[in-house]
Amino acid sequence: MTFTRRKMLVGLAGLATLGVVGGGARYWIGRPADPVTHDYELIAAPADIELIAGTKTPAWCYGGQAPGLELRARQGEWLRVRFINHLPEPTTIHWHGIRLPLNMDGVPYVSQLPVLPGESFDYLFQVPDAGSFWYHPHTSSAEQLGRGLVGPLIVEEREPSGFRHERTLSLKNWHVDKQGAFTDFSVPREAARGGTPGVLSTVNGEHAPTLELPAGQVVRLRLINLTNTVTYRVKLPGGDARIYAIDGNPVAPRPLGKVYWLGPGMRIDLAVKVPPVGEMLSLRNGPLRLATLASVATAETEGDWPAPLPANPVAEPDLQQAQTLRFNFEWAGTLSSDSGQGEAFTFWQINGQAWDINDKTCADRPIATLKKDGHYIFELRNLSQYQHPIHLHGLTFKVISSNRKRIDPWYTDTYLLGKNETARIALVADNPGVWMFHCHVIDHMETGLMAAIQVV
Ligand code: C2O
Ligand code: CU
Ligand code: CU
Repeated sequence: MTFTRRKMLVGLAGLATLGVVGGGARYWIGRPADPVTHDYELIAAPADIELIAGTKTPAWCYGGQAPGLELRARQGEWLRVRFINHLPEPTTIHWHGIRLPLNMDGVPYVSQLPVLPGESFDYLFQVPDAGSFWYHPHTSSAEQLGRGLVGPLIVEEREPSGFRHERTLSLKNWHVDKQGAFTDFSVPREAARGGTPGVLSTVNGEHAPTLELPAGQVVRLRLINLTNTVTYRVKLPGGDARIYAIDGNPVAPRPLGKVYWLGPGMRIDLAVKVPPVGEMLSLRNGPLRLATLASVATAETEGDWPAPLPANPVAEPDLQQAQTLRFNFEWAGTLSSDSGQGEAFTFWQINGQAWDINDKTCADRPIATLKKDGHYIFELRNLSQYQHPIHLHGLTFKVISSNRKRIDPWYTDTYLLGKNETARIALVADNPGVWMFHCHVIDHMETGLMAAIQVV
């Protein structure tokens, strides 16, 4: 697949009128005068944010904030985003978890050319599934996501879901020092292990905030892990919480339980029964407090647990006729290309192949080719001592079994594959394209743990 810049610009003729963005403002977001063209004008630009009181962090923002502006759409409708790049480097937007046509998937040299500084790109697609999703670049990911280019994308159910209250909680862990300056987003010795962790955790850009929730109500909390490498061990001690959806797909409501492991890129929608006024709950990552949920008085009558959310229109894989493909995720063993400046390190591989993040032709050599509308089982084998949140673009899959735990099947776009675990997932290859298949620990992805899967 090759692109010329000229080809990519066709169809963007209307863009000349867009010079207005300047006008002194570095970014602007809002509903444009002509809603026929787009719903959002989303600008990526540098801006200082205050993560640590009294300090400045030179973040990169979507819509002037980091994590980025929350975008919303309704299931079955179009989302039209005119994206404008005011960063000092090329970028793209990938819509994580959304089943869409390849040319909207935001992978450079696979679905589009990178959007250069000063350029814009119109992302236009229908959203088939309701749920909690997110968006981020697919270029220089460790740095671009690390600096804050991550944002929630909420697709509302067609009909009111039964939740009267909801909050999005964007979880992010930042690579900053005590002065708010960025530290290395990816350090080779960490990339070769669990990934380079940040040190400051925030919810909606604030460290350990207090969120006020209406007493006695059932509130939908959309927890989204927008972090490069960290798996959150989500806990809500003493709280009455049920999981309503996992990674954008409804499940039969089930108790949150003691702990839920939310890997990079993953989401859960929790229904939480807010305790009586004056009581508080502590949302935790293991022993660490992420946020305090404070109960405040409300005039509303006591809320009840809503009905389960309606299923998304995902095709059911037929396990009897499915063909099985095996994928081994392993440590690459040698620090092969660690010599020259600017060369990528290789620490990880899938079926013996490492993805070279600097090689634009990698996607021309897909690791597997699926027949359009074929049914498949992927056997995912982790041969390493680190966990990998395995993510697939363009297709939603069903988790069907694991050799490590009992699986109550669910649909998802990301599966957290534990140390030495073998799990089976199944899907119908109903979306033609070349789809990235990678670990969402960003520095694993950038040091080999990525491949392309073709559906033709
Ligand atoms: Cu959030 Cu390639 O993925
Ligand atoms: Cu994705
Ligand atoms: Cu990984």
